[in-house]
Amino acid sequence: MGRTFKHILLLAGVFCLSIVVVACGTKSDTNGASKSSTDGKKKLIVGTDATYAPMEYMDAKGNIVGIDIDIVNAIAEAAGFEVEYKNYGWEPLFPALDNEEIDFAVSSITIDEERKQSFDFSDPYFIANQLILIQESSDVTSFDDLKDKKVSVQINTTGHKAVKELLGKTSKNIVAAETMPLAISEMINGNADAAVGDNAVIIEYKVNNPKVKLKTVEDNSFEKEYYGLMVKKGNQEIVDLLNEGIKKIKENGKLKEITGFDVK
Ligand code: ARG
Repeated sequence: MGRTFKHILLLAGVFCLSIVVVACGTKSDTNGASKSSTDGKKKLIVGTDATYAPMEYMDAKGNIVGIDIDIVNAIAEAAGFEVEYKNYGWEPLFPALDNEEIDFAVSSITIDEERKQSFDFSDPYFIANQLILIQESSDVTSFDDLKDKKVSVQINTTGHKAVKELLGKTSKNIVAAETMPLAISEMINGNADAAVGDNAVIIEYKVNNPKVKLKTVEDNSFEKEYYGLMVKKGNQEIVDLLNEGIKKIKENGKLKEITGFDVK
């Protein structure tokens, strides 16, 4: 081995090592994920699944934007903290909270009893319900009509749960995709007869894709769902801070200005 080659190898090794050190450094700095920003305000790290337009998604420049993001920005302003968003995807959000990589998660997350056993939630800030998306030619008119059909959902969402209740937990007719757009593609490609998901996201997809002939079906059997910000279990300090902001933006009309409706 030539001398210069050895030298290069050595340098490369040192370089790799410093990357590892830097990476570790940022990790241990983030005590409970939050940092202090330059003006002394607390900076909270917020995890999201930015595949969920119009709630949280990437704009053309790669920024995380959406109704949920506007709401969290308003909450942060009202409660006096700063935020930094990180796109984790849906399923990794939950361990990221447990590992304290993030301070809280915003992702149109429905406050539900099962999740409440492992996580804490802020007060509700948004109301939603499940909606069925089908081809315009489909004869499905109710949720019950999906009993013998193939149904696509985003994995481990409340839509997935509702469909499991209808088709059976281990039914092979459930197509559980990693993201909601993928779940919708499965339906459009014919791998499923219907997609089930949160109303705002289903409607947004339909409006943005007029060339694909789709229709939606509402069903009264779907329960009302309330979105909350999700926090590591026992992190009351963050829950209180978020609730302070939520209370303020409910009172001053800012939340209604963003979403168009009141949430009590
Ligand atoms: N509201 C549903 C739930 O909590 C779906 C949320 C999915 N959000 C997302 N950003 N992918 O299960």
